[in-house]
Amino acid sequence: MRSLIAGCGGYLPEKVLRNDDLAAAYGIETSDAWITDRTGIRQRHVAAPGETASSMGAAAARQALERAGLPEAAVDCIIVATSTPDSAFPATAVRIQAELGCGPGFAFDIAAACTGFIYALGMADALLRTGQARCALVIGTEVYTRILDWTDRGTCVLFGDGAGAVVLTAGEGQGTATDRGILSTHLHSDGRFADILHIEGGAGSTGGTGLLRMSGREVFRHAVSKLAAVVDESLAAHGLAQSDVRWLVPHQANLRIIDAMGKKLGLPKERVVVTVDRHANTSAASIPLALADADGRGAIERGDLVLMEAIGGGLTWGAALVRF
Ligand code: ACO
Repeated sequence: MRSLIAGCGGYLPEKVLRNDDLAAAYGIETSDAWITDRTGIRQRHVAAPGETASSMGAAAARQALERAGLPEAAVDCIIVATSTPDSAFPATAVRIQAELGCGPGFAFDIAAACTGFIYALGMADALLRTGQARCALVIGTEVYTRILDWTDRGTCVLFGDGAGAVVLTAGEGQGTATDRGILSTHLHSDGRFADILHIEGGAGSTGGTGLLRMSGREVFRHAVSKLAAVVDESLAAHGLAQSDVRWLVPHQANLRIIDAMGKKLGLPKERVVVTVDRHANTSAASIPLALADADGRGAIERGDLVLMEAIGGGLTWGAALVRF
């Protein structure tokens, strides 16, 4: 049996902050040219004061369910990937369960930073395959603008807010590479690199600012090699070639990393889904938002093989291969 992606949805806050606005709004010494050249980012969305990870996640989930043609009551499992939950507990997932009025079932959060959506997809797939759930909402939702140090120009220009969601249902098939659904997920972490990308302090900590800290160059170095390795691992698991991949839907952190992965796979630019220019890095929300973007314009067709990959704090990294 395979878990099928039955629908994708996204939500972006109304307020848009362009690169040029950063200097004016926050007095940051930066320029549109610096940010665009190094990252490809042109703008980001910023949550309004009343918006939270749960309210944005619920909005994305509603759109995913609508596109799947399924009612809220059909959902028996919700997994939310977030580094910016409404509160340490209860989980953002149970808040969304209540907000949507989902049926009986279970809901929980996953903390795997920017790789969170791939982790959540892997967990939901395992639960569906073992019959512990029949219809799962997998959501990535983040309000990173609330954990940024707006005096650190090396990080505050990189991130934005938003949410994305997919609906997973239990499908049929024998589990061959040509069957539709999630072929596999490949998850990794290495806690020895915790310090190069982390939140300083926070709930349960003995101190700290609660803000994001990153050694950008080091993260960049790990990103290119670890993502290349997990892409190879994913394809090799099914005896697939790079040319079998129809779409790359990467984590949207940096256009240079995205381009490097597209080149590695030999994919033409139009087969690589890019939203980083409009959304910036929305961490766990970036892949489902990119999926919703591509799916919303009818780009991904039934039967297309889609490769998703991400790296983030932990370090965590991973990939998912899905036949739509
Ligand atoms: N505007 C203008 N100048 C800046 C800015 C800015 N926003 N930020 C830094 N600079 C300056 C620095 O002060 C430094 O100046 P100096 O040479 O006078 O000291 C110079 O630019 C170079 O700084 P670096 O940090 O070395 O810049 P680099 O070329 O490495 O680019 C960047 C930084 C874009 C963050 C890059 O390292 C990168 O993309 N890293 C990967 C980060 C990433 O992808 N993280 C996300 C993955 S995980 C996740 O999603 C959470």
